[in-house]
Amino acid sequence: MIFSNFLKSTPIGAVTRRSKSNGEMAGEMAGEMALARAAGEHAVWTRYPFNRIMGSSPLQGQPYFLSPTSAPLRRGQPMAESCHLPVLVAEVLEWLRPEPGQIFVDGTVGGGGHTQLLAQRVGGDGLVLGLDRDPAALDRAGGRVAGLPVRLIHGSYADLPEILAEQRITKVHGILLDLGLSSDQLADPDRGFSFHSDGPLDLRFDPTRGEPAWRMMQRLSVEHLANLIFEYGEERRSRRIARALVEACRTKQRLTATETAEIIRRAVPPSRDSVRIHPATRTFQALRIAINGELTILDTALRRLSSCLTPDGRLAVISFHSLEDRAVKDAFRHREEWQALTRKPIVPGSAEVDENPRSRSAKLRVATRRIPT
Ligand SMILES: C[S@@+](CC[C@H](N)C(=O)[O-])C[C@H]1O[C@@H](n2cnc3c(N)ncnc32)[C@H](O)[C@@H]1O
Repeated sequence: MIFSNFLKSTPIGAVTRRSKSNGEMAGEMAGEMALARAAGEHAVWTRYPFNRIMGSSPLQGQPYFLSPTSAPLRRGQPMAESCHLPVLVAEVLEWLRPEPGQIFVDGTVGGGGHTQLLAQRVGGDGLVLGLDRDPAALDRAGGRVAGLPVRLIHGSYADLPEILAEQRITKVHGILLDLGLSSDQLADPDRGFSFHSDGPLDLRFDPTRGEPAWRMMQRLSVEHLANLIFEYGEERRSRRIARALVEACRTKQRLTATETAEIIRRAVPPSRDSVRIHPATRTFQALRIAINGELTILDTALRRLSSCLTPDGRLAVISFHSLEDRAVKDAFRHREEWQALTRKPIVPGSAEVDENPRSRSAKLRVATRRIPT
């Protein structure tokens, strides 16, 4: 009830600015919403300029705007469509149980598939906040969720408590995290996620901040790189690979993804594994996790997100490799703020895997907030 009241008084896609008075803000909100409505759009996307990848609050420091550059979606302009297929769709809806009027967070919008489904369920009196670190993902998803009650925000799900505070939302009914990268990011040759891309090895989810992977490799010692590949890629041949990469970095400053994959392929003898997966798979995973601070961010989120949920609110996490899944399983089982609802992870059926082979390693775990007694 409290949420639908909130929504009635707070337009979707509002522009808020910390330094303005309430009256000024309300005027801006109304103006922005009128524009969006006139354009037939509800979904508006918002830049969230967090000044850090992980750690302290993004609200610290200089003047901070939650959504100053919020712009109605560009109508009539060509917008690349997402090629990403959302995974475990029926299972996510079954476990998150979105109902009309409720507020949900999709912490990893990607192509917008899950966001769209959640928004259709919560309807006009509800709201879905969609976050992504990748501005290109938000642009793409914007077209898909146009007309639905969605606010798209450029930011990290680990910063959700601050984002909700800025949006004047106290609690949400459910949160979805669908971890890893999207097929759209994989297909973008400038990002370097695919072994076949000629672009520089970048690997950042958010190309507007931080350093690309090719530059990180320039400054790491063999030992440091080997440890990173071993820890985040669970790659037994990490030392050999690190030696070859550091050697290659001496002669070439900006390695491309294809060159990196080829250096790794040549550095390791063929194994039984290499029939099943490309020999560079584990190293690319390790570099990507390191560049994006993925495990630290996940850990931060697992500590912080329960405080964002209503008493019976739920967190659903879809992971794609054992390091992520272990972190989620341990948090749901052992942290006092969570009560695991799924004893074993939920995995896709064979029909889904046939239709979308990328879904084969997906694991869904769900927990509810445990209120301390
Ligand atoms: C697997 S895709 C999500 C796909 C999405 N569920 C769909 O249906 O299209 C993962 C997305 O999470 C984003 N991402 C990764 N880490 C993030 C973080 N800490 N905060 C917000 N988004 C993040 C990536 O940029 C990527 O777009």
